[in-house]
Amino acid sequence: MSEKFYVTTPIYYVNDRPHIGHAYTTVLADVLARTHRSLADRTFFLTGTDEHGQKVQNAAEKRGVDPLTHCDETVVRFQELWQRLGITNDYFIRTTQESHKKIVSRIMQDLYDRDEIYKADYTGWYCVGCERFFTEKDLIDGKCPDCSRDVNAITESNYFFRMSKYQDWLIDYIQTHPEFIQPAFRANETLGFLKKPLGDLCISRPKSRLNWGIELPFDPEYVCYVWFDALINYISGVGYGSDEEKFNSWWPASCHLIGKDILTTHTVYWPTMLKAIGLPMPQTIFAHGWWLTGNSKMSKSLGNVVNPMDMIDRAGVDAFRYFLMAEMSPGNDANFSEDGFIARYNSDLANDLGNLLSRVSKLTIRATGGEIPHPGECNDDDAELAAAVNAAIGNMAASLNSYKLDQGINAAMNAVRAGNRYLEKCAPWTLAKNGDTARLHTVLHNAADALCRVAVLLTPVMPEKMAELLAVLGADRAGISGISGLKDLKSVAGFVMKETDPLFPRIVVEEDAAKTGKAPKTEKKAKAEKAPAAKEVPVNVVVTIDEFFKTKLKTAQVLTAEKVDGADKLLKLSIEVGSETRQLVAGVAQFYTPEAIVGKTIVIVANLKPAKIRGIESQGMLLAAKNGDSLKLVTIDGDMPSGIDIG
Ligand code: ME8
Ligand code: MG
Repeated sequence: MSEKFYVTTPIYYVNDRPHIGHAYTTVLADVLARTHRSLADRTFFLTGTDEHGQKVQNAAEKRGVDPLTHCDETVVRFQELWQRLGITNDYFIRTTQESHKKIVSRIMQDLYDRDEIYKADYTGWYCVGCERFFTEKDLIDGKCPDCSRDVNAITESNYFFRMSKYQDWLIDYIQTHPEFIQPAFRANETLGFLKKPLGDLCISRPKSRLNWGIELPFDPEYVCYVWFDALINYISGVGYGSDEEKFNSWWPASCHLIGKDILTTHTVYWPTMLKAIGLPMPQTIFAHGWWLTGNSKMSKSLGNVVNPMDMIDRAGVDAFRYFLMAEMSPGNDANFSEDGFIARYNSDLANDLGNLLSRVSKLTIRATGGEIPHPGECNDDDAELAAAVNAAIGNMAASLNSYKLDQGINAAMNAVRAGNRYLEKCAPWTLAKNGDTARLHTVLHNAADALCRVAVLLTPVMPEKMAELLAVLGADRAGISGISGLKDLKSVAGFVMKETDPLFPRIVVEEDAAKTGKAPKTEKKAKAEKAPAAKEVPVNVVVTIDEFFKTKLKTAQVLTAEKVDGADKLLKLSIEVGSETRQLVAGVAQFYTPEAIVGKTIVIVANLKPAKIRGIESQGMLLAAKNGDSLKLVTIDGDMPSGIDIG
């Protein structure tokens, strides 16, 4: 049955430049929203920007523009990044828009009329950076407990929300609703905070100090505290006070996604505000951890932010989305490093997923010309693969409810790896050679079927790449309606497969030429020219066994071979090395035709630095014996899978 899902992100300070922390929360919300849509749930996804307050006023003053102009100019950074990242929010709310300001004002008036808001003198400590008042006992060593910066003592008349009277109710609510604050250890953190008496919340700022905010409807000398204004976006953004039907169809929110930095405002201020307004609580407030660089939180003030645009330019939007989702287990912190990014990209996307696709498409095109054949009888290997795919579908649904999406993604990648293992075990290339067409067809069908289902499952994470993948499988015209449609997909037989370039080309890390102080090209060329000299090393030079084993020799199976245009000595091969498919260029065209070399199990140097030969990348070198005009490949005596170490 179709359910309702309403998800929000924090509304980000418009002043900040978005970094991968902001991108993470927004992509996570997007993947949740897309997955729910894919399950045919009625879904609403809200994000936006927080535009009032001291920091915006200061920044605008510095630039000599009025605050709204400043906001109009900076909000674009977020909107552009979300567009680039393929974010499918249903609405983008800005707290400076009239419709929002009107609702905040109306709520304040109502709370004031019902004595939920009162005026009093107040002495406190104010942190400009965090825009928060603290009491004496909140301070740590006399500094802001959040950012450790200096705070200023301030006494003034202000308006207060009677938050304290909801303390007991809130404790009870949290204790009786385990799904309310997640992960559970964050609920304990809030309960810990609530052990101390809860004060009332100062919700005003005198205009003499700050005038960039929503004016209090009952006292024009004051503006509203920025957090009180901002939190209300979650209801004003879905029609509260303006479109009751719409509002009732979405509220209460299914999930407010936040970072752990804003736990208290969301799990103490916001629930008590809602209680006073008379609205039901959101179902879940989920606080994820921080992206760190080194061991510090990534933040603008620390100057260690990673710009998402750089990573996107380098590896593509979908790879970036995949990395964010797969790398962080929501709840815990995660470390961002470029090495980590490249390692995961190459292993999960280039190797596991990319190779499964290229193998399935090449083998099918070779066997049938492209049409996915009908399967015959199934055995245990087939059942094992189907079980891995079903487990992935089940896990994705479960991880959606627990918000631990990394687990669903991991299950999907396990199914991909099961697909690669399945091919290795069933060896369709051998089936083809031996003319076992019935079994060959079953294996090709089942591998394609698994890949098709996993691609649908991963579409919310990598919408563009999975659409490409499904098009290669010929499944794009099948009208599969998301994950919920998979149960109606009886078989992929009959889909027509297309040839494909690698979906996720490997990222090759170039050595940093700057470090050597030499131009990289010339250096490479010099090495390449010297290479033949190595053959002239006298045979009586001994190497140690350790030296020898630096060279990794492996078995490899030749999948395809073709002549290289304009180079009559070269063949371009695609070879299988265990679960990997590689491209290799070899100077054997005068001795082997493409047909003669396909299917052979050869020996390659697997850890040779990739090189470009006639502009084509060669990932390794094959071994052959050459004697004058004759050349023979080093092959394996008998049956042996690819990817086996030789030594
Ligand atoms: O706090 N790691 O806005 P903000 C992970 N306007 N997530 C991070 C992160 C990091 N290093 N840095 C930021 C505000 N985030 C208020 C919110 S809501 C009514 C008002 C993400 O621009 C994370 O979601 O400081 C965090 O909670 C949010 O950005 C803070 O964004
Ligand atoms: Mg912040």
